[in-house]
Amino acid sequence: MRIGVLIGGGDCPGLNAVIRAVVRKAIDAYEDEVVGFRDGWRGVLENAFEPLTIESTRGILPRGGTILGSSRTNPYKREDGVERARETFAEHRLDGLIAIGGEDTLGVANRLHGDGVNVIGVPKTIDNDLAATDVTFGFDTALQIATEAVDRLHTTAESHHRILVVEVMGRSAGWIALHAGIAGGADVILIPEQPFDIEDVCRLIRRRHERERPFSIVVAAEGAVPKEGTTMTLATGDLDEFGHPRLGGIGQRLEGEIETRTGFETRATVLGHVQRGGTPTAFDRVLATRLGLAAIDAAHDGRWGMMTALRSTEIELVALEDAVAEVRRVPLGEYERYGVLFG
Ligand code: F6P
Repeated sequence: MRIGVLIGGGDCPGLNAVIRAVVRKAIDAYEDEVVGFRDGWRGVLENAFEPLTIESTRGILPRGGTILGSSRTNPYKREDGVERARETFAEHRLDGLIAIGGEDTLGVANRLHGDGVNVIGVPKTIDNDLAATDVTFGFDTALQIATEAVDRLHTTAESHHRILVVEVMGRSAGWIALHAGIAGGADVILIPEQPFDIEDVCRLIRRRHERERPFSIVVAAEGAVPKEGTTMTLATGDLDEFGHPRLGGIGQRLEGEIETRTGFETRATVLGHVQRGGTPTAFDRVLATRLGLAAIDAAHDGRWGMMTALRSTEIELVALEDAVAEVRRVPLGEYERYGVLFG
């Protein structure tokens, strides 16, 4: 077979491990040829590609980022996007494409499948917010980085009797914030799923002071929002090709609000893309490898329109349609269960 591979959306640790696994098995087990498209769907639209071989993918397993590059290009936002994708497919005589991505990239893959293009999906995102898979690779690495940051901020918060706000990634799901906050013993955790009242946040912080703990750690997902009708408001940023606003800024806003309302010195740290960079954890490398191996098998079994997924301990195939139908958010019951640990 001739198989294309691309990566779309925000990068995350483990992407190269998928590429390596696909290429190894495609060439050694199936005698396939593999073409890598540069920068996600942009590479397909502009026919920017490179042949992927065992030699060209050596040594990439522990490397962060992606050797193919990524972008947030949406072929359905271009007038002739689908036509151009078909032309590129024909030019390379591709039997199918393995698209590695999150909700946006896999959403495009699902639509292309509906338009008759052979696609298999592989889920990735540090946000861990894809339905139909229990975990996405990249999440474990991002969580380790965020937890280490919380640990480090804890000791300096205690020394200086400060309130330290940590802004982590998580556009519409608060998995990183919740898990890093629980693992690092945060006093307040703010997630997009549960709009917050700034007065409740300040109450928890004041209560700690009364209990002679004159410092606090607040972990906030970048997508956390104030509850409607409360006394804090947020402005929204510009939208990307998938209609998502550029986030970042809640940490700074919380810094100002908490300091003004409590009178306690407050500082914010924004972890940002630090969470997406660098070498993947062993867990993410293994998961990414398993998903890549299953993806090339699925292509050979003609399971187009499916996505490889971790279900419990097994790798299974699920319909792309189901995977992109909704975002996997933190269930409110789970968030509330931890409420006793706050403040
Ligand atoms: O979807 C993954 C993610 O890391 C989100 O958590 C974040 O909002 C977004 O990507 C940031 O994207 P960009 O790197 O394009 O600013």
